[in-house]
Amino acid sequence: MADDRPVAVFDSGVGGISVLGELVRRMPTESFLYFGDSANSPYGSRSEAQVRAWTFMHTARLLDADAKAVVIACNTATGAAIGMLRRHWPEVPIIGIEPAIKPAAAAHPGGRILVMATPVTLASRKFRELLARHAGEAEFLEAPCPRLAAMVESGILDGAETEAYLRQTLRPFLGAPADAVVLGCTHYPFVRRTVARVTGTEEIYDGGAGTARETARRLAEAGLQTDAASPGTVTFLSSDPSEEHRLLCERLLAAARAGASDA
Ligand code: DGL
Repeated sequence: MADDRPVAVFDSGVGGISVLGELVRRMPTESFLYFGDSANSPYGSRSEAQVRAWTFMHTARLLDADAKAVVIACNTATGAAIGMLRRHWPEVPIIGIEPAIKPAAAAHPGGRILVMATPVTLASRKFRELLARHAGEAEFLEAPCPRLAAMVESGILDGAETEAYLRQTLRPFLGAPADAVVLGCTHYPFVRRTVARVTGTEEIYDGGAGTARETARRLAEAGLQTDAASPGTVTFLSSDPSEEHRLLCERLLAAARAGASDA
């Protein structure tokens, strides 16, 4: 039976819009309800318990708003909370993004792979287990980027300031060229061009397309797809109600829908 309720998409802020773009491209007739907790962003330097509590609270609100499925479009929140969310709402499809370690390692066996993510993601048990499963397939270099999500959040995208930050933060890893880079935070695809310039590789992986594919699969499996023939809607909700913030969300979605997350 067709289901026209929206799919909820959650992130600590605007980063999940890079995933939302992939979701809309893959399922143009579905409707999406996006919530970014920009007032509390960034999550990546908070305690895991705090991230878990906020993620739980916002997921509950999105389900109260009649979402039929929830996409946790935040690596940090997935690492901290996905197990708890699935235990609490076993009947709801809950899809979580995680760093694209698997496709990067498969494409670059034995390669040097730089993994950029928030400190909370890198420390999470879920990520440690993911990395352990692929240990030996490639050399993974973990690069915490504690300020990068906050820069994107304030609209600082590709440009001199981002480049200076990345050159300084990634300096320990730039001595030898990386074969690939994993963007383990959904904010980072919006500065992909600068990452490519600084690291010297165009082999850049993020989990957005894989998450959209998995969401489509889970909706089909649960019989929750819409049968609408016309394009669905995208509704933005945020804990930052400013007009400037709304404009940033629209700008980022236009870039992500075009398949170029670089805005
Ligand atoms: N976009 C989030 C992620 O994928 C986290 C950014 C943050 O709030 O620190 O990890």
